[in-house]
Amino acid sequence: MLIIRTIADLSSYVASLRADNRSIGLVPTMGALHDGHISLVKRAVADNDSALVSLFVNPVQFNNPADLESYPRSEEQDFKLLAEAGAAAVFAPSVEEIFPEGLDASPRKSFDLGQAAEVMEGKMRPGHFQGVAFIVEKLFRLCLPTRAYFGEKDFQQIAVIRNMVRSEGIDVEIVPCPILRADDGLALSSRNALLSPEQREVAPEIHRALADSIEYSLTHSVRATHDSVVERIDAVPHLKVEYFEIVDGRTLLPVDEWEESPWVVGCITVYCGDVRLIDNIAYRKPQESA
Ligand code: PAJ
Repeated sequence: MLIIRTIADLSSYVASLRADNRSIGLVPTMGALHDGHISLVKRAVADNDSALVSLFVNPVQFNNPADLESYPRSEEQDFKLLAEAGAAAVFAPSVEEIFPEGLDASPRKSFDLGQAAEVMEGKMRPGHFQGVAFIVEKLFRLCLPTRAYFGEKDFQQIAVIRNMVRSEGIDVEIVPCPILRADDGLALSSRNALLSPEQREVAPEIHRALADSIEYSLTHSVRATHDSVVERIDAVPHLKVEYFEIVDGRTLLPVDEWEESPWVVGCITVYCGDVRLIDNIAYRKPQESA
């Protein structure tokens, strides 16, 4: 597996792949890789001639400096996992390589990310999706991927990236991939490494509450389902719901009635101590959006 550190080397590598007419699958990550990330990489390896992974803790998508500071890093271990998964190359640049003029230099371009970027994470983390769009667009322009792979754990991120691709006119297929979970149901996340043993023990209650609420939703209103999930999670020590929104899976705007959309998803963010965990569940899902 090639380890690429500079934009110049990345560009010449991508040019050589394109010259050979090879399809390119891109998996953007921030490292501290776990099986969730690796499932995306394996999918990219299976679908494409070459799988390219980026590994960059992107400072401009963190709205909280402490979160950036504490973000777990394990580059050597990540490289090993990526090589084992069959990645052809990893692009792991320095902050200076991506921001040669410094992080606070001239204002960055503002992307049209649509209404989907205004709700939930967009509301709670001002600037977050502009930061995500900045790096993902840069990666798309540099890597010229045929397909790009994103996990449904970050459900809103996929919708926002689809909007960015549309508004920027970028030719790439966005491939959503299912959430990988630990045996006890907790969605795998790099941030799980920051949980204390007691916090790790209660964190699976987030998924349990969501999973149990599917049956509840068959006989209860959207509002009642919402409230039952929030009450159950908030009753668990260490857990505090930041938001839980039941939304249209396409627009990400809230629904009041189950019948309002064929695709209804509950998106949740929970503080487990100081660690912010996110998860989601589909209440209604048409076959074609699977
Ligand atoms: P990161 O949090 O490292 O996640 C990289 C990719 O892995 C994302 O598409 C994310 O949804 C996916 N992922 C994370 N946990 C997963 C799980 N349990 N199951 C399946 N997929 C999972 O998301 C980002 O990085 C950044 O915002 C990025 C897109 C790289 C831009 O900086």
